[in-house]
Amino acid sequence: MIPNLQSHYGFTRMPFTKDIPVPALFSSAACKEAVARLRWLISARGLGVLTGEVGSGKTVALRAAADGLDASRNTLIYLPNPQVGVRGIHGAVAQALGKAPCFYTAGLIPQVEAALAAETDERGRHVILAIDESHLLTGEQLESVRMMTSHGLDSSSPLTVLLIGQPTLRRRLRVGDMAAFDQRVQLKYAFPVPSLTPAEADGYIRAHLAHAGRTDTLFSDDAVRVIHGHARGMPRAINRLAVTALLAACTENKAIADEKAARTAIAEETAATD
Ligand SMILES: Nc1ncnc2c1ncn2[C@@H]1O[C@H](COP(=O)(O)OP(=O)(O)O)[C@@H](O)[C@H]1O
Ligand SMILES: [Mg+2]
Repeated sequence: MIPNLQSHYGFTRMPFTKDIPVPALFSSAACKEAVARLRWLISARGLGVLTGEVGSGKTVALRAAADGLDASRNTLIYLPNPQVGVRGIHGAVAQALGKAPCFYTAGLIPQVEAALAAETDERGRHVILAIDESHLLTGEQLESVRMMTSHGLDSSSPLTVLLIGQPTLRRRLRVGDMAAFDQRVQLKYAFPVPSLTPAEADGYIRAHLAHAGRTDTLFSDDAVRVIHGHARGMPRAINRLAVTALLAACTENKAIADEKAARTAIAEETAATD
């Protein structure tokens, strides 16, 4: 917590952070749509692809969709970083299912298949494998993930697989050798640009402030408009600018962040990235 921000604005915690809990999230149209589709994918036990620009709200949407799941019947395996090789993905699944990953790849794949089958058939649990930053997956990894969803002769899939990544992921799946994968994808949702409409920006900022203990107005309408425009409606960029604008307003001993504070924040950010 930046000390003078807290005392100046009387925040109970730092606003605009990534750990904002699900009940405090802002229900933007894009977020609602993504969550609804993820819930459908989970109920359909399918293979899905969720894409969006950096900071558009993908990981948050997964958190929100997972929040409503019955923990006694679902096992969510979340891989934040897929740069772990084919073994790494299978190893993480084995570990999450309580197995010590088999040392040899030839043994690891059937081990994971058996563990998934046991989880589904014996324990009646549904496994959801969510791989974040999936645009970084290699072709070999994608193929191994596809195989995981289609093992055995049983028509029902043992798990839901969700690939989350930047827009390049969708383009990659469309290329020739990925066609087999692409054909099996049951859900494709891309966060729109902007992720938050200009009309949603105010509610978004208020949701973060409310979670930090302030429910009154802390940003002028002009400040919100300027921040939303510069951030291109992307939540993470709005977070960053909003904090810097609050700091700028605080430095000038103002009660709210006005357009001047927002423009100072933009100028600082632009100077820092030049
Ligand atoms: N619906 C929302 N309500 C509140 N904050 C959000 C929402 N969506 C995104 N955010 C904020 O934006 C940040 C970036 O979202 P995130 O899901 O991590 O983006 P991505 O995974 O697409 O890079 C989050 O850490 C969170 O603070
Ligand atoms: Mg993310």
